[in-house]
Amino acid sequence: MEIRLISICFSLFVLTHAEPVKFMDCGSAVGKVSIVDINPCPKQPCELRKGQSYSVNVTFNSNDESQTSRAVVHGVIAGVPIPFPIPIDDGCKSGIACPIQKDKSYSYVNQLPVKPEYPSIKLVVEWELRDDSGKDLFCIQFPVHITS
Ligand SMILES: *[C@@H]1O[C@H](CO)[C@@H](O)[C@H](O)[C@H]1NC(C)=O
Repeated sequence: MEIRLISICFSLFVLTHAEPVKFMDCGSAVGKVSIVDINPCPKQPCELRKGQSYSVNVTFNSNDESQTSRAVVHGVIAGVPIPFPIPIDDGCKSGIACPIQKDKSYSYVNQLPVKPEYPSIKLVVEWELRDDSGKDLFCIQFPVHITS
């Protein structure tokens, strides 16, 4: 009885407290990323089901000021970056209070919709947030598996 209760509690914990996603930095020129969270993502690489939407939360520190911020997302398939459209590319409407100040911590929060017509493959998502001079506040890469 007790063991069952513990395992139920553990399952709930795993479901609601996803571990931070392992990511690679691909050249955050004017920022430093500390945590990347994708929800839901109970095991890595994150499994993205077609027709679902996933929340992405990137916590980073800015090394510079910027009036604006714009997200650019690519799916990298066999080394080739293919544009991955997101509904809102304005970082200032994605959890960031603009203008961005120097040496401040920000959490960029957005949705990654997985369209039904996407192929069922493993790929790397490359997510950039560019400042007003086109430099990367962050550039991260993380592997995902698109499934139906
Ligand atoms: C994003 O992640 C940061 C760091 O873990 C956390 O403090 C913040 O509450 C998260 N924001 C949302 C909307 O989940």
